[in-house]
Amino acid sequence: MSFNTFGHMFRFTSFGESHGAAIGCVVDGCPPRIPLTEADIQGYLDKRRPGQSRFTTQRQEPDTVKIMSGVFTGEDGRQVTTGTPIMLMIENVDQRSKDYSDIKDKYRPGHAGYTYDVKYGITDYRGGGRASARETAARVAAGAVARKIVPGLTVRGALIQMGPHKIDRARWDWNEVSNNPFFCPDAKQAKVFESYLDGVRKSGSSVGAVIEIVAEGVPAGLGAPVYAKLDGDLAGALMGINAVKGVEIGDGFATAAMSGEDNADEMRKNPNLGNDGKPVFLSNHAGGILGGISSGQAVVARFAVKPTSSILTPRKTVDRYGRDTEIVTKGRHDPCVGIRAVPIGEAMVACVLADHYLMHRGQMGEGTAWPFKPGA
Ligand SMILES: Cc1cc2nc3c(=O)[nH]c(=O)nc-3n(C[C@H](O)[C@H](O)[C@H](O)COP(=O)(O)O)c2cc1C
Repeated sequence: MSFNTFGHMFRFTSFGESHGAAIGCVVDGCPPRIPLTEADIQGYLDKRRPGQSRFTTQRQEPDTVKIMSGVFTGEDGRQVTTGTPIMLMIENVDQRSKDYSDIKDKYRPGHAGYTYDVKYGITDYRGGGRASARETAARVAAGAVARKIVPGLTVRGALIQMGPHKIDRARWDWNEVSNNPFFCPDAKQAKVFESYLDGVRKSGSSVGAVIEIVAEGVPAGLGAPVYAKLDGDLAGALMGINAVKGVEIGDGFATAAMSGEDNADEMRKNPNLGNDGKPVFLSNHAGGILGGISSGQAVVARFAVKPTSSILTPRKTVDRYGRDTEIVTKGRHDPCVGIRAVPIGEAMVACVLADHYLMHRGQMGEGTAWPFKPGA
């Protein structure tokens, strides 16, 4: 099975399966002399880790990361990257294969078993093998390295819709995101999510969500106008997360209903700093990307996560031998995988930005061409 590698200059290859011994990735292309410890990575893995509240799967995986290579501790006691491949390993400790024995030969409608089997002729019924979202722990680990590559970059995510319930954007408070189990920036709506998801969970069903990722400190100039559009690569990276069925950049689908006047992000000279190369945009409908190239504004992306197929209501399906049957998925599952998708989305955005930052630097050196002098 090929296609396990992400990126161009910042690359990682992920390995492992849900019910194998370990998962992880090998990050290649990280510049040398960047401080990197396991603690820098663990915090992000802890956000994605299962079993942290009644609203996520009760699989108990500590998701402890080990840096196996690519770092060196100098005489000053600081551990830094060496510029060589960084292998990050996370052991699987809480597999329960018997949870899947009843559905061993049956395809879960909405899951990857059928297509995986059509293609490879071998499928790991215990959680889906490479189609299991356990693989996303490797992405989060790689994302933690990526965040350290772009100076001054901050990538944050929030869950802004669960099922039909949307947040009120006027109440958006980033400080609230860590105060509730949903990564929700609206404290009032988090309470609504709580009672709603309790109902979904108790009925053995599942529900979808929308996640918004905001990257600040993205330098202007990342991306390219044709086959390396920054928005195109972000969309691909976010769509590549399990269960994601839609991606928007900036105002996304809502722009279809806007007028040209409303959609245009007007520009002014920065009144405080003068013409220093950073104009002020009066709005950000474009989500920080114009013509595939970052504008220096915050990069904003949203993605929709579907409700997963692990539900207790019997569904019609077929088995591996083409026979009609029914399926019920018991075991430990997330009623709303959108919650744990928040740190995964952040990681993918960080990886795309690190990759583009290094590609930009490779072609252009530091900085951008603008501003020009009048008459030059
Ligand atoms: C964090 C996370 C956890 C997931 N856990 C489950 C799960 O417990 N049961 C399930 O059916 N799907 C789960 N999924 C979704 C499946 O991995 C995904 O739907 C499946 O691989 C098919 O791929 P697709 O939905 O991208 O087409 C999860 C997704 C994410 C992001």
